[in-house]
Amino acid sequence: MMGQWIAACRTDDIDPEDVIPFDHGGHAYAIYRSPDDAYYATDGHCTHEQTLLCDGLVMGGVIECPKHNGRFDYTSGKALGAPVLVDIRTYPTKVMNGTVFIEVGAGGGVRTAGVGGRPAE
Ligand code: FES
Repeated sequence: MMGQWIAACRTDDIDPEDVIPFDHGGHAYAIYRSPDDAYYATDGHCTHEQTLLCDGLVMGGVIECPKHNGRFDYTSGKALGAPVLVDIRTYPTKVMNGTVFIEVGAGGGVRTAGVGGRPAE
């Protein structure tokens, strides 16, 4: 199955080093903007319990879950230690004309780590 590129938000909807929620097709995602203006996307819920990560703290490429302070590298999805033991799924992003797109529904469960979408200019 091919993935599908979905417009998630405008680039300036997210402050640098912040995260916003994005829902599509009944699935919650989290969209991140790094300090150097790269954009990343992960599942919206922590892999520990079903807590929304968009309410957490973003710092230095890491999202900290608001519930038990579990941390993930949001560029790779890697779980960084207890209580989060399961990596979080990441999604490819790209930026076109000031809009951030994420690729959802790609087949095979391929982990698509670390290619942050950047504005073209
Ligand atoms: S629910 Fe996220 S660390 Fe427990």
